[in-house]
Amino acid sequence: MKTKQGILLVLSLFLVAVSLFGQDTLTVVPGTVTVDGVRGTGEYTYSTSQNNMELWLRRLDDNRLAFFYQVKTTGWIALGFGSVRMDSAHILIGYQAAVTVADEQTGAGNTHSRATTTVLQTSLMREVDGYTIWEGIIDGSRFLAGPNLQMIMAYGRADNLTTRHQARGSLTVTLR
Ligand code: HEM
Repeated sequence: MKTKQGILLVLSLFLVAVSLFGQDTLTVVPGTVTVDGVRGTGEYTYSTSQNNMELWLRRLDDNRLAFFYQVKTTGWIALGFGSVRMDSAHILIGYQAAVTVADEQTGAGNTHSRATTTVLQTSLMREVDGYTIWEGIIDGSRFLAGPNLQMIMAYGRADNLTTRHQARGSLTVTLR
């Protein structure tokens, strides 16, 4: 009997762990993310990888979303929130040169221009060994209200905000 209870306990703990850290869902996991451009063990609960672009996320509370984004390029990198297309996405785009250049833009068709609102609360970008890394926390309240978080990502080879992507991708994450 005790063994049965033990097995049930282990099984429930396993299911809780899967639901908290499952790769297809994002749930609030309170805690701290240190925005230092280094991905600490256990800092992120969701990850995905597409075409040289690696993304980790953690939902810190109802509104705040932490991201760690790493791309094998020395050119521009970008994340977009609230859409699986460029159109209407809220885009964070930037590159690391002598200084960090970063901007928030809104997609319109297959173009984008300076956004009228900003969501970035804190962030740090750095370039290391041919990778550009961007870690930050956004006010994601606009994007976290529905059943899913929709995102796009892309990167280019040039140090500017205008040359078309080398690759791009999109993702939809179930919010719990
Ligand atoms: C830097 C200037 C940019 C230019 C000139 C540009 C141009 C284009 C063009 C012409 C397309 C349609 C052809 C195709 O499918 O490749 C496209 C699609 C796409 N782009 Fe961009 N893009 C830019 C920036 C971005 C950024 C910053 C992101 C992500 C944050 C992005 C994500 C996407 C995605 C996901 C698609 C496919 C869905 C869609 O058509 O919206 N692009 N882009």
